[in-house]
Amino acid sequence: MANDREQARAFIDQRLAEIFAPEDEALRAAREATAANDMPAIEISPIQGRLLQVLARACKARSILEIGALAGYSGIWLARALPPDGRFISLEVSEKHAQVARASLARANIAAKTEVIVGPATELLPALLVDAPFDLIFIDADKPSYLTYLDWAIKLARPGTVIVADNCIRGGPPLRDDYAQSDDTVRTVGEYDRRVASDPRLLSVALAIDEDATDGFAISVVVG
Ligand code: DHB
Ligand code: MG
Repeated sequence: MANDREQARAFIDQRLAEIFAPEDEALRAAREATAANDMPAIEISPIQGRLLQVLARACKARSILEIGALAGYSGIWLARALPPDGRFISLEVSEKHAQVARASLARANIAAKTEVIVGPATELLPALLVDAPFDLIFIDADKPSYLTYLDWAIKLARPGTVIVADNCIRGGPPLRDDYAQSDDTVRTVGEYDRRVASDPRLLSVALAIDEDATDGFAISVVVG
């Protein structure tokens, strides 16, 4: 019985990805660049990439900020949802990852409207106040800094800005009542979830939508 359900689940996930979020050569190359450069295979799934695009289009995004570029896979999805004169900025702590990400964005022919800035995001974010407000902000970097990133995201936002954070579930521990007794990552992600769920400036939901439905996005829209 459980096996039937697992099979149905696997079939559905595979078909949804194939029908709604097929990868082209540039996306495949970005994913392959992760492995080729000894980077962790922790990029978002194609369905998550398509969801980011739907959100970007829904808020008519002209400027998108990403925290955590990795190999540029999510950056390709996001930047492709921008109009021709749109701007995509990604902050990346690793010089090597930034180079791989820039190459991925160049292969996708979107280098002109994209920028990968190297450094710790907490140090780079204040300088982005001059570029604010951003229409969509995607947080997908070191988890213990998520609350700092959320504070900055709200500062860099306008009413209607969409703030998305990856890895808000992490297999479940952040959702437990005793999340605060856990390690830095679980404690911070658990606190992030509760904050976006209850902050009156935000309307939020979280979805278990990674490959095996044990992790996913917290999605918030700034309401005032
Ligand atoms: C980790 C980070 C991620 O952004 C992710 O999607 C999965 C795992 C991690 O650092 O463990
Ligand atoms: Mg992630």
